[in-house]
Amino acid sequence: MQVILRPYQIEDCRSILEIVNYNINYTTNIYEFSSRTLEEQIQQFEDKLKKRFPVIVAELNKEVVGFGYYSEFRTRPAYQFTVEHSVYVSNEYHNKGIGKIILTELIQLAKKQNKNTMIAVIDSENQNSISFHQKAGFKTVGIIEQSGYKFDRWLNSVIMQLLLNL
Ligand SMILES: CC(C)(COP(=O)(O)OP(=O)(O)OC[C@H]1O[C@@H](n2cnc3c(N)ncnc32)[C@H](O)[C@@H]1OP(=O)(O)O)[C@@H](O)C(=O)NCCC(=O)NCCS
Repeated sequence: MQVILRPYQIEDCRSILEIVNYNINYTTNIYEFSSRTLEEQIQQFEDKLKKRFPVIVAELNKEVVGFGYYSEFRTRPAYQFTVEHSVYVSNEYHNKGIGKIILTELIQLAKKQNKNTMIAVIDSENQNSISFHQKAGFKTVGIIEQSGYKFDRWLNSVIMQLLLNL
């Protein structure tokens, strides 16, 4: 299996949107209620790139099967060395090591950008992502109870952290 990692290009957005909208419409992984449009997704990535944050995609047989990015955790200036990231892999390609390849690259890029820590904010029902991040060395540092409400139920956010300079 030859997975290629490369910077995101605007042409990737349709494939990315399929992954994103699946997660919005059928899971609690994303705290949004309705599908994003192509324009919204393009704009979101443009904003990150403008601020010099990376957006990367994983390609398998010329198909975009996953992507990842990070950007500011919070906007106040003293948070400048802290980033919040996300990794998404198309459902049919889970558990093949693709998420790990993307996250490993994001960690390397964050180190190169002299970031100090990475934060994942994960819905507590998303055991896949919690286990995935634990395997990568992230530690659970907090749970914000009832921070979301979707599909007629309260959702809890698990905060996981990796310190990059230990
Ligand atoms: C979370 C996600 C990115 C993981 O990607 P993936 O490609 O399936 O994960 P990988 O195959 O690279 O697994 C990497 C490691 O995590 C472990 N892992 C992944 N899913 C797991 C699960 N459900 N249970 C236990 N361990 C798991 C793997 O065993 C592997 O361990 P190893 O390093 O010891 O080999 C993927 O499930 C996903 O896209 N989920 C939906 C979107 C999402 O929730 N993203 C995270 C938002 S913060």
